[in-house]
This record gives sequence, structure tokens and C-alpha cells, in this order.
Amino acid sequence: MLAIDNSCIVIFGASGDLTQRMLMPALYKLFTQQKLPTAFVILGVSRSTYSDQAFRDKLINNIPASAVINKQLLADFCQRIFYQSIDTANVNDYAILKDRISKLNDTFKLENNALFYMATPPSLYSVIAQHLAAHHLNNEQKGWKRLVVEKPFGYDLDSAITLDKALYQHFQEQQIYRIDHYLGKETVQNMLVLRFANSIFEPLWNGKYIDYIEVTGAEALGVEKRGGYYDGSGAMRDMLQNHLLQVIAMVAMEPPSVINADSMRDEVVKVLQCLKPLSEHDLKHNLVLGQYTESKVRGEDLSAYRAEAGVPDDSRTETYVGLKMFINNWRWNGVPFYIRTGKRMPTRVTEVVIHFKKTPHPVFSAHAPENKLIIRIQPDEGIVLGFGLKQPGSGFESQEVAMDFHYSDLKKTELLTAYERLLLDLIKGDATLFSRSDAVRACWNFVQPILDYKKRSFSLYGYASGTWGPVEAEHLLIKDGHKWR
Ligand code: NDP
Ligand code: BG6
Repeated sequence: MLAIDNSCIVIFGASGDLTQRMLMPALYKLFTQQKLPTAFVILGVSRSTYSDQAFRDKLINNIPASAVINKQLLADFCQRIFYQSIDTANVNDYAILKDRISKLNDTFKLENNALFYMATPPSLYSVIAQHLAAHHLNNEQKGWKRLVVEKPFGYDLDSAITLDKALYQHFQEQQIYRIDHYLGKETVQNMLVLRFANSIFEPLWNGKYIDYIEVTGAEALGVEKRGGYYDGSGAMRDMLQNHLLQVIAMVAMEPPSVINADSMRDEVVKVLQCLKPLSEHDLKHNLVLGQYTESKVRGEDLSAYRAEAGVPDDSRTETYVGLKMFINNWRWNGVPFYIRTGKRMPTRVTEVVIHFKKTPHPVFSAHAPENKLIIRIQPDEGIVLGFGLKQPGSGFESQEVAMDFHYSDLKKTELLTAYERLLLDLIKGDATLFSRSDAVRACWNFVQPILDYKKRSFSLYGYASGTWGPVEAEHLLIKDGHKWR
């Protein structure tokens, strides 16, 4: 069991969206559940000027009323929160930061442990690492120092390597925690337990019994206020390169010998390195890029992507990716993985569907039932196993039925959100659910041909907002005799 050490949680980019909307509410929730260390403080850092109290007030405004268990608890939490305005890009300002950390350390007996969470624009990541080191704030002689990197970890393969090199000049790999919040989701982790704690699934978990696998990451929302960021990213970088490839790694990896950071991440990287490189043929025939267009859904006018704030009106950025891909290893040889992710889909759903092969000979009816295992990551986390049973009455007609498990049925279990889980692991120093540099590179390596292809002339298909993406993406499966669930 890893210790929950007393520590100073320093958040760069404290006035920003991620800190306010995700990190602070998550830390508050952990505090209400008494999961934070006995002695801790949170020190928000950004250029905006706030007093400690003004920063606390900002936080209080962002905590949903339903999460406030009692006002005293919230007041106690606020007493641990402080704010320091500095220009993160200016090395001299780190003297002020160091002094503030040192005083908080003495007052609250934080044992010189510090977590530096970089929730700033990515261009500042290497700058922050360098400036922390200039003031010896990376030094672990007294107390641990951890550096948390938010996605994106680079913009392509080369920039990911450059970022790593810049961070390694001042921090060791074991001090660096790269957050992919999908790995903090309960059902993503549950995939490992489902696969490796039950003897009934694992023997079937290979190309001999599995026909094909679907992975869907659909969002009902558009890009909202993030058009400026998103247009430089697109669905490929925003969702597929990181979140969905991590999900695929959980579905496809070999069992680790034990669950710890090294063995887990060794297996993850092994499978990611087996992703079959995309050929010119794949780029032309097994990849569909789309962009949402305007439409009316249930009486509501939904704008086109190109009409969103911050998006150029001739943008060719994809808001949808559909891809057929393979994994080159013994377990998965020949099994297609169909992946799709998009904004402005009919609903929000992230799920993996494992389609098992049909029986070799249909004894009971021409239409053999499909055996499929649906692993729903969100919403309504759960697992559904579909299979065929005899229809009541005479004859042997079969019908599809399902065994259906919802996490919500475990009434007593309140699931930690992804950020709650990952923040707790950060404080414990458990790197199991954080992306290691070699895995990040393997993911970029796989998607790099798509990024290069996008620099040439490529087909970008429109799809009406509120639909399941371009019709061309249906054909990815139809031409193989399959269909999206
Ligand atoms: P915001 O633009 O909302 O916030 C950026 C923060 O960085 C602000 O607090 C800003 O504060 C600070 N900042 C900017 N420039 C400087 C500077 N030169 N010196 C000091 N501080 C600076 O971004 P987000 O919160 O949305 O995102 C932060 C990071 O997290 C990004 O890398 C993003 O990719 C990543 N991320 C965000 C997610 C989200 O849901 N928002 C999800 C996943 C990842 P000030 O101007 O006061 O200095
Ligand atoms: C973020 C992307 O990393 O993940 C967003 O930047 C996306 O564009 C989000 O909406 C999806 O996360 P979740 O947890 O809502 O599925």
C-alpha cells in the first residue's frame, strides 16, 4: 500500500478552465472523503492577480451545490488553498514561488513533498520544468517532487520526442506523470479485471473466437468554446491518438504478471508497438475523416463546425474519425478493430463491443444470434453480454437476450471520477494509470501517417450534426459484412 504523504499541490494555470472545472472540484471531493493527506495545501499559480480569499471564492463558485456536504467542510478545505501570481514564463518569478512554497511547507509541515501540476498551455510545459529546476524545485534530496503533464504530449511524433527531451533535462521519468483521464475511468480499468480475473473470457479473447471489435467515442456536444484549440488539433489528436488508443491497449494487451506501474505499462507499450502501420491503401480506404455541418435536431438549430467561434470558415479540421486497423501479434492477427470518434453525434457514448464469431454451422435457424460483449465506459458504466436463447413455444427459433450489469446497481459504490482517481494516485505516487513516454511515442508513431496524409489533399466528408458521422464510415464495416452496433 502506497503512503499518502503530506504534500504541497502546486497547480500552474490555476485561473484556467481545467483547474476550475475539473481539478479543484476533484480535490474537494477527495477532501470530503478524507482521502487527502493529513497535511496538504493547494497553491494555485497563474498570471492573473487574486488574493488567497478571492481565489477561494472563485473555487467555491465552481463547486456544485450538490457536492457541498456541509459548509464547515468547505470552509476547512478553503483554509488549505492559497494563490500566487507569477509569470510562469519568467524564471526570476520562481524565486517568489519557491519562497511561498517554503513558507507553506514550514507552516503546514509538508515534508518538502511537492506535486507540480501543469494545467497551462502546452507551450509552457518545458519552460516550467526548466524554471523549476533553475530554483532546485526538482531536487528530491528532501521530499519527492512530481511533475504532472496534461495532454497534449506533443503535437506529433517529433514534438513529443522534443518535449520528452526537454523534460528529461530536469526531471527523471519516474518523476513525470502524463495524465490521460481515460485511464482514470472506472470501466477502462475494469476491463483488466473482467479479462484477467475471470477464466471464462480470457480463453476466447483472441482471433480464433473474436470476429471484430468496435470502439466508439461519441460526443453529443460540438466544440463549444474550444474552437481555437480544437481547430489546431482535430479529432485525431484530441481523442484518437491518446484516449481511444489507450482503451484499445486495455482491450488488447497481454496480462501483466502483477499489477504495478512497470509491468502494466510494459504490457501496454508492447501492444501499442504492435499496431499495424497504416499503409497508403489504409489511408485511402480504411480511414474516414468528417466534419459536422449545420442541422436541426429536435427543433434545435445546430451550427456547422465552420461557424463555431475560433474556427476559420474554410477549416479542413476533422471532427470525426473512423478507422479500420489491425494489431500485428499472435493474439490479434487478422481481427479488425473499427474505431470511431466524433463530436455532434446523436448521443454521448463511449463503448467497446467485442463481436464473437458465429457458430460454425447454424443448427437452429438461418439467423444465428450474435454473441457480443458490450463494455460501456460511459454513460451508465456497465457490461452487457448478448447471446441467443430459444424462443418460448414450439420449434427451435432463437432470439437474442442479454445479461446486463450496470455499475449503478452497486448502490453502495460511489465511483470516483477519473480526475479524482488520478489525483489520488498522483499524491500516492502510483504511476500505473499514467502514460509512459514509450507508450506515448508508440501512439504518435501509429497516427503520424494520418497527420502526414492530412497535409496532402485528402477527402473530408460532411455529416449533419446529430448523426453518426459520414455515410462513408458505415461502409468501412459494410464492405466487410459487418455493421456498427
Ligand atoms: P485555459 O486557457 O482555460 O487556462 C490556461 C491557464 O494557463 C490559465 O490559468 C492562464 O492563466 C495560464 N497561463 C497562460 N499563459 C500563461 C503564462 N505565460 N504564465 C502563466 N500562466 C499562464 O486552458 P485549460 O485550462 O482548458 O487547459 C490547460 C491545459 O490542460 C492545456 O494544456 C489543455 O490542453 C489541457 N487540458 C484541458 C482540458 C479541459 O477540459 N480544459 C482537458 C484535457 C487537457 P493566466 O492567463 O492568468 O496566466
Ligand atoms: C478531452 C478532449 O481530452 O476529452 C475533449 O480534449 C473531449 O474534446 C474530452 O470532449 C472527452 O472526455 P470525456 O471524459 O467527456 O469522454
